[in-house]
Amino acid sequence: MFIEEIKLIHYRNYENEKIKTHEGINIIMGENAQGKTNLIEAMFFLSRGYSHRASSVAELAQWDHDDFFMNAIVVSQGVKHTLTAKCHLGKRQFLLDGKARKREKINGIFNTILFEPDDLKIVKEGPEKRRRFINQEISGFKPEYHYLLRDYEKILNQRNMLLKNIRYEPSLATTLEVWDEQLVQVGTRLMNHRIRYLHRLNREANVLHKILSQGKENLSLYYQNNIIDSLEDIKEIKRIFKEKLESSREEEISRGSTIYGPHVDDIVIQINGKDARRYGSQGQQRSAAISLKLSQIEIYFDNTGEYPVVLLDDIFSELDENRRKSIIKLLNKTQAFITCTEDLFSTDEIQENKHMIEIHQGQAREITPTK
Ligand SMILES: Nc1ncnc2c1ncn2[C@@H]1O[C@H](COP(=O)(O)OP(=O)(O)OP(=O)(O)O)[C@@H](O)[C@H]1O
Ligand SMILES: [Mg+2]
Repeated sequence: MFIEEIKLIHYRNYENEKIKTHEGINIIMGENAQGKTNLIEAMFFLSRGYSHRASSVAELAQWDHDDFFMNAIVVSQGVKHTLTAKCHLGKRQFLLDGKARKREKINGIFNTILFEPDDLKIVKEGPEKRRRFINQEISGFKPEYHYLLRDYEKILNQRNMLLKNIRYEPSLATTLEVWDEQLVQVGTRLMNHRIRYLHRLNREANVLHKILSQGKENLSLYYQNNIIDSLEDIKEIKRIFKEKLESSREEEISRGSTIYGPHVDDIVIQINGKDARRYGSQGQQRSAAISLKLSQIEIYFDNTGEYPVVLLDDIFSELDENRRKSIIKLLNKTQAFITCTEDLFSTDEIQENKHMIEIHQGQAREITPTK
C-alpha cells in the first residue's frame, strides 16, 4: 500500500496544504519546528485513529480552530481509496471513499509503522516500554487487540479498587470472584495474542539482527510472564491463572493490587545468549531495537497481505552510516517517510528511488534532486 497525496486543513501548523508523495522513499527535510513530525503524526493518525504523541485529539486542531480535516489518497491492494479524518471539538470521524466508517475499517486499508528515537530504548529501559511496544504493534494489524487491552485495563482497575476496599469492608470479598473470572477470561486472550506474536517476532527479529550485525550476533526473545513457566502450560493457562489468583488472595488484599496477570509481562531479549538489557553495549541495544521495530514490516505483510507504510521520525540522525544503509535496504518493498534536518542521503542506494520534500513553516515544497 502507499499514499499518493495528503491534504491537511487547520491541522497543527498546517493551514491548508496538499502534499504529493512518492511510492518509494520520501525524505521530509526541514529545520526544527517546521512541521515534519506533524506530518508524520497526521499519517499515523489517519491509519490508526489516534495520535502517538497528543494526549487529546483536540490538540491536533490548529490553534484558534475547533476543527481539523485530513484527506489522503491511498492505493491498497491495487485499488485507489480516499481516506478522510474529520474532527470537530475533539470528536473524530473517519470516512472511507466518502462513507463514514469505523476506525478498524480504515486500518485494513492504510497501515503505518512508526519508528521514533524513543523506540531505540525498547531494549534498554524497563518492562513498561516493551509492553507498550508489543501492544502498539499487535493492535496495528489486529484492531480487536486494542479493545481487548482496554477491557483488561478496565477490569484490572476495578479489581484493584475492590482489593483496596476489602481492607476496610471485608464483606466485599465475596464479589472478588466475579472479577477474577473476567480477569482470567480477558487476560488469557491477551496472553494468547502475545504468545503468537512473539513467536513470529522472534524469528523475524533474529533475521534482521543478523543483517545488522554482519552475521555476528544471534538475537532471541523470551516471553516472560508470571503465570506460565513454559510454553507447555499454554493449554492450562486459564486454570493456572485462576489458581494463582486464589492462592495470592491475602497478599493481594494487603497490597491492594493484582499481582498476577499480563499487566506485568515482559520480553527477555538476548544477544548471543546474554541478557541484552543488562549486558548489551549501547550499539547492540540499538541494533536489537531496530530489528524488533522493523520486523513489523514482514509481520504486517503476513497478516494482511500488504506492506505497511513506514514512518521514520528523526531516527536517521541517531544512527551511523552502516546502520542507515542497512535500514534503507530493508525498506526496498515499502513506501517510507524519513524525516531529517539535513540531507543524510547522498549514499548511492537511494539516489534513484528518493523523493525529497522540504517543509518550512507548515508548507511543503518538492525538491528535485540535482545529479
Ligand atoms: N495545534 C497546533 N497549532 C499550531 N501549531 C502547532 C500546533 N501544535 C504544534 N504546533 C507547532 O508546530 C511546529 C512544528 O512542530 P513539529 O514537531 O512538526 O516540528 P519538526 O519539524 O518535527 O521539528 P524537529 O526537527 O525539532 O523535530 C512547532 O513549532 C509547534 O509550535
Ligand atoms: Mg520532529
